[in-house]
Amino acid sequence: MDVTTQERVEAYCGTCKRSLPSKSYLIRCPHCRGLIYFRYDWDHVQLREKPNSIWRFSDLLPIQQLEHIVSLGEGSTPLIRSNLKQEGTLFLKNEAQNPTGSVKDRAMSVGISKARELGISRVMNASTGSAGLSTAAYAARAGMRSAIIVPRGAPFERVAAMVAFGALVLPFDGTIWEALRFCEQAAGELGAFQSATLRPVNPYQNEGSKTIAYELWEEQPDQIDWVVAPRGSAGILAGIAHGFEDLRRLGLAQRMPRMAAVELAHLNSMEQAWRAGETNEENLRRLALTLDEGQPTIAVKLAHAYPDDGEEALSVIAQSDGAVVSVNDLEITEALRSVARADGLFIEPSSAAALAGYSKLVSRHTIQPGERVAVILTGSGFREMKVIASILEEPMSLYGETSARDRLQRFFAGAEGE
Ligand SMILES: Cc1ncc(COP(=O)(O)O)c(C=O)c1O
Repeated sequence: MDVTTQERVEAYCGTCKRSLPSKSYLIRCPHCRGLIYFRYDWDHVQLREKPNSIWRFSDLLPIQQLEHIVSLGEGSTPLIRSNLKQEGTLFLKNEAQNPTGSVKDRAMSVGISKARELGISRVMNASTGSAGLSTAAYAARAGMRSAIIVPRGAPFERVAAMVAFGALVLPFDGTIWEALRFCEQAAGELGAFQSATLRPVNPYQNEGSKTIAYELWEEQPDQIDWVVAPRGSAGILAGIAHGFEDLRRLGLAQRMPRMAAVELAHLNSMEQAWRAGETNEENLRRLALTLDEGQPTIAVKLAHAYPDDGEEALSVIAQSDGAVVSVNDLEITEALRSVARADGLFIEPSSAAALAGYSKLVSRHTIQPGERVAVILTGSGFREMKVIASILEEPMSLYGETSARDRLQRFFAGAEGE
């Protein structure tokens, strides 16, 4: 590796601040177990126009040698001005357009590229869906073996695509939290790369989520007042905030938008911690133990009582004068339906949660009339057809020609269908 490539990016510990060897596979700081971050060659960063993927921001991603990149064309997703009635301006960042239908592809492209650069060809993940699917796709593209640990209760239709990609799917008798811990241990024993989108387990992938901030800034430079994102581990939200920090360091963005996290009402550890003003990891863990991850929800991908990146996310929420809000399945269903009707966007419940949270923040006047908001629609509804069919179910009776004509006439006359 020559000097220039070595200087592209440097890893360091966020706690003891030591520089760390970029050629090793890093999970936590080997000296103090602190979280790992990256420094880039700030004086030579360029936000390029090509290729049409997150890799046009390669100067800000933690890969040393770009020939290792594994890409399926992730990122460059549309920012759509919503038709939903509201007083301010609502933009929707449609992450459903990523290769496997979710935001996780940004992180995964970085993670699998890093695994390749490190010479690791075994990949493992514990996932309720999106990150597992994305792991399986990117590992297939890279010619690697992947194994996905899926927590108790995952229906086959959610893992079928992983099977198609050739991944080993292991249903695990435990919650997502237990599956994540098991995955961490087993990956260590087996010398596998953990393609988790949580910084405490994988510092590289969180960097992929930053690219959402770069794209938002390119389209609406310093025009976005709020970014609203759903939280599972809270990694996406923390990643986006880091992206804005990069832009500020580069002298491009003047300010960080206010960051808002939306979580499930029955798993609202972040909201409780935020209200109590005790936002550290210990308190989040303590609160998480009082919540029931087993309670059914349509937004399965948000069903984490303990958000692994929660402390970091709460810190950026505090710095940006942001907010935490929680929503229930009914509110999520309403949001899913309304954005489908108003904007033609079919999103999964875990994404619709962000929109439901946005509406709540507007009705509480936390988001003020006239403010410009970007809601991150994290995943496609086509990946959760069974759940969505169960909440929208309507009788499907058969019509003959005459009754079909009558019904069509009534419908187009506006007598039904509102
Ligand atoms: C579609 C979707 N939205 C949101 C999230 C939450 O992301 P994070 O866990 O980074 O907070 C996930 C997590 O898997 C997801 O799959």
